[in-house]
Amino acid sequence: MAIAISNDGDTEDRDESVYVTRFYSELIDPVNRPDGFNDAKAGKILYFSVADSLAHTQTVKEYQLLPLADAGFTADRRQYCLNTRAALQGIGDTVFFNSGPDNSGNGAAALAHDTFCPDTASTDATAEGAIANNPQGAYTNNLHGITIRNNTLYIPNVGASPEPPVKFNVNFQALISTVNLTSGHDKTINLNSLIKSEVQPTNETESLDRLFGNDLVAIEASTNGKDFLLLSRGGNYVLRATLDNNGTLDIGASEGAVRFQTGNIPSGVVMSLDGKRAYTNNEVNTSVTAIDLVDNQVISRDISSSKPPTPGTQEHRNLLGKLAFFTALGTPDTLDRDKDGVFDMEVREIDPLSFRGKASDNGWSSCASCHEDGYSDNVTWFFPTGPRQTIPLEGTFANNDPADQRILNWNAVRGSVTDFNNNSRGVQGGTGFASNIDGIDKSTTIFNHGPTQGVSDALDAMSEWVANAIRAPIMPDLVDANATASARNTFEAYCSACHGGAKWTKSSINRFDTNPTFETDPLGANFFAQGGVKPIDPTLSVAGPQIRSLTIGGMVTSFLDDVGTFAAGNPLELRGAGAIGGGAITATGDPNEGLVTAKQSTQGFVALGAIGFNTPSLLGVATSAPYFHDGSAASLSEVFARHTLTEQGGDTIANVVSDADALKNLRNFLLSIDDQTPPFN
Ligand code: HEC
Ligand code: HEC
Repeated sequence: MAIAISNDGDTEDRDESVYVTRFYSELIDPVNRPDGFNDAKAGKILYFSVADSLAHTQTVKEYQLLPLADAGFTADRRQYCLNTRAALQGIGDTVFFNSGPDNSGNGAAALAHDTFCPDTASTDATAEGAIANNPQGAYTNNLHGITIRNNTLYIPNVGASPEPPVKFNVNFQALISTVNLTSGHDKTINLNSLIKSEVQPTNETESLDRLFGNDLVAIEASTNGKDFLLLSRGGNYVLRATLDNNGTLDIGASEGAVRFQTGNIPSGVVMSLDGKRAYTNNEVNTSVTAIDLVDNQVISRDISSSKPPTPGTQEHRNLLGKLAFFTALGTPDTLDRDKDGVFDMEVREIDPLSFRGKASDNGWSSCASCHEDGYSDNVTWFFPTGPRQTIPLEGTFANNDPADQRILNWNAVRGSVTDFNNNSRGVQGGTGFASNIDGIDKSTTIFNHGPTQGVSDALDAMSEWVANAIRAPIMPDLVDANATASARNTFEAYCSACHGGAKWTKSSINRFDTNPTFETDPLGANFFAQGGVKPIDPTLSVAGPQIRSLTIGGMVTSFLDDVGTFAAGNPLELRGAGAIGGGAITATGDPNEGLVTAKQSTQGFVALGAIGFNTPSLLGVATSAPYFHDGSAASLSEVFARHTLTEQGGDTIANVVSDADALKNLRNFLLSIDDQTPPFN
């Protein structure tokens, strides 16, 4: 993703080294410590010497950026321990022990796995106790930038803490990792743990004070390696830092950190050689910000580098959507001043700071924190439905038809990008993009499979950006025509029934008549208490918010298929909302009635998945490993070894496609799938 080259100051360059970051971190111990744990992965810096490279003898070596054991924030883990759950139940804590009509499995017995209990012996359920205040670690991920000064590498990155609970300040951290090139030792600090000691400003929408780091995408330093500039993309700011006596970066939080506001969505920063000026390039505003580092002031926020698209064009709407997706601050909910359907606000006219608190709490995170550029951070997060790999969004809409959209999420529990406003609110700690529509808070009108468009202009623009702009990476075609023909035959025979269509998945809201699917929220007091909400379209059968299948003229199309990837006994199949109501879900009732009641088994708070998963798109599959809902398959070979095919007697892909060449062709074909690959019916 990023590159740095050493410079020892002489004119001979063969003695220099080249350092490159891998964007995604990698599992440290794949067998014993799967993703989902805060210490599961390490960042990787690859390096080689120029001399070796020129002599074609290069060996590429690597440095690891190890996880941070304590990132400086704590989480409440009481609902993940048998003892503390039991104690809380005794005092009737309704937050943890919601009892909906079907919620028979409450209490300590309902906790299926104590995987995330920090101390299974402790009985201290007090709010002051150690279980309620468990220090959280974070692993280095999304290594956006790198620079080198005085024999030290500096790498800004987006730290991930996927363990439950899902809460903004224990999900992401703004990390700066360093590698000492003499000792090879790495060290990581969390900028957010410094920022938290800043004083919360009273004029929040005018001040940059106490804005957290969110997506740190670039770093720059003075030639002597003493003054640093850190770039927060979603916060629209540059932060000054210096080295303290221990050689650790310090932002002077106690005296008031120094920040400079940039144009919208900055992606790079440079400093002049004399250290007096800095410049950022701003991706969404297509502008450059000029900063005076002597008097600590912004000279000009938007020096135009090219003309942004004109209001009234689709490109302009897409760009506003991109801004809403990338900002950790906010945008206006209403982008159309004349109410004539044209989003007439110029992109440079929008000042995200004045909408601070919408996308997230104090600029903590953005949609792009997990969906870098609309793709995936490759992290398995513990979400309310279970361990869930971030889904890259290039397969969410058909590339030739923005009306053809997948049913969303691994369990088909959401119906539109609008539904994800609840991520800004729930996961990121913000108010979302629908809390002020002409003075009215419309965010509560948004629910899973509820209104899809027209609630807020910002959300509509976001949906349009996802549909029109996120595309699968371009991959080389297979060169061998015979191999292609062989792979396409195999795919047609065994895969296209589920992975067919322009999105490379049969999952589509176009297959039924109604999206929105529900008139009222299908979620009751908890994820399973349904309160008898039926889908509008009687041909649909649902299980809670999961869209299960469609039956027309006796023909059943299933949207949740069991391909052998779910094991309720796996200690990681646990629901990240803690276990607020839930349980291994089994369906009862008549699907023809439209409503299938989700019943809990005695299994406890296991994740969703027992009735199958929503077929993922295979667009861009080459770059989105690891695979499956829980990221448990590191490679396509692992997919082939575990993914079963019901129609072939439940045998695995590797057994059904038993010819080694045919399987190899299938694998290479999958890796080549992009927008140019002709899809299957
Ligand atoms: C903490 C990480 C995280 C953040 C922040 C996040 N997402 Fe996601 N996103 C995920 C994960 C994980 C999934 C899969 C969830 C599941 O299946 O339960 C997902 C799924 C999706 C999907 C479904 C795609 C499909 O084809 O099924 C959409 C759309 C989406 N996210 C949009 C957004 C938007 C818009 C935002 C910002 C408001 C956002 N996400 C913020 C992690 C995140
Ligand atoms: C019955 C429907 C069905 C059929 C047939 C099917 N798949 Fe799948 N496929 C799924 C489902 C559902 C998942 C998700 C499983 C999970 O996440 O646990 C999946 C996951 C995958 C994945 C992982 C994708 C990702 O992003 O994680 C790959 C790759 C894949 N299938 C390839 C194939 C191939 C190749 C074939 C044919 C040999 C095939 N599938 C046949 C339903 C199907």
